[in-house]
Amino acid sequence: MRFKDKIVLVLGGNSGMGLAAAQMFAAEGGKVHLTGRDQTTIDAAVESIPGATGYQSDISDPAATEVVVKAIEATDGRIDVLYINAGVGGFAPLRGITEEAWDHTHAINLRGCVFALQKAIRIMGKGGSVVVTGSIGAHGALEGNGAYAAAKAGLFMAMKTFAKELISEGIRVNVVSPGPIDTPLLYRNPGMTDEQVAGLKEMMIQNIPMKRMGESEEVAKAVLFLASDDASFISGANLFVDGGLIELG
Ligand SMILES: NC(=O)c1ccc[n+]([C@@H]2O[C@H](COP(=O)([O-])OP(=O)(O)OC[C@H]3O[C@@H](n4cnc5c(N)ncnc54)[C@H](OP(=O)(O)O)[C@@H]3O)[C@@H](O)[C@H]2O)c1
Repeated sequence: MRFKDKIVLVLGGNSGMGLAAAQMFAAEGGKVHLTGRDQTTIDAAVESIPGATGYQSDISDPAATEVVVKAIEATDGRIDVLYINAGVGGFAPLRGITEEAWDHTHAINLRGCVFALQKAIRIMGKGGSVVVTGSIGAHGALEGNGAYAAAKAGLFMAMKTFAKELISEGIRVNVVSPGPIDTPLLYRNPGMTDEQVAGLKEMMIQNIPMKRMGESEEVAKAVLFLASDDASFISGANLFVDGGLIELG
């Protein structure tokens, strides 16, 4: 029960690893608030998590995040744990990247996440903990991953910087960098057929030293560790959860 009486906000908590983490935070006593874009999966997530509250809120719009923060301030007064997880994928090689696709990826995966932190820390204080979902994509080159990699690399360094800025306030900020994890994200790549996704998965599996993809719960366990007091002397860290891909590959 590491999160007993803690107020937890999961941005992007209605699917994949965000949903797994939201469920685990609640199982360990946390009062969970979660966001997403899709109302159907938000409702399903709330249904699966005792005491949870869901908000339809697009992270690329900082004003929408502010609405969520104000609602939590009104009900619970504060946020103890913030998990910034919302993100989108999308592959395109250099010659195929459109300006719209670049801006969309960066508006969600970088800009939106940064301003979400700015909005949320207003009601966070000493002992607060922030975990952000990065990606191995920020630490190794994969053809076609330029826009995503650049956004996640920017997110990583921004969060490392904010970790330093917030340390005097007693707020820790850490990044979890997943490798290939079997979530709905892979099937949301615009322009990719199911066959191409299957091929991509097989290619990734061959490159992973553990020869398998990760599960959402395996990332969520790392997130809960960094969010908890078990990690009380850790800030600015980057924890790879990638089957050894970056460190051993
Ligand atoms: N799966 C992987 O292999 C992998 C590897 C490394 C890093 N990641 C990162 O892990 C994070 C979670 O992804 P996942 O794999 O669990 O995929 P997922 O199942 O597609 O989950 C993505 C989550 O982000 C939310 N989201 C996306 N755009 C949003 C927006 N504009 N505003 C608010 N919420 C938004 C989604 O909500 P809706 O469903 O409502 O849109 C969903 O809850 C992402 O940051 C992703 O980049 C994934």
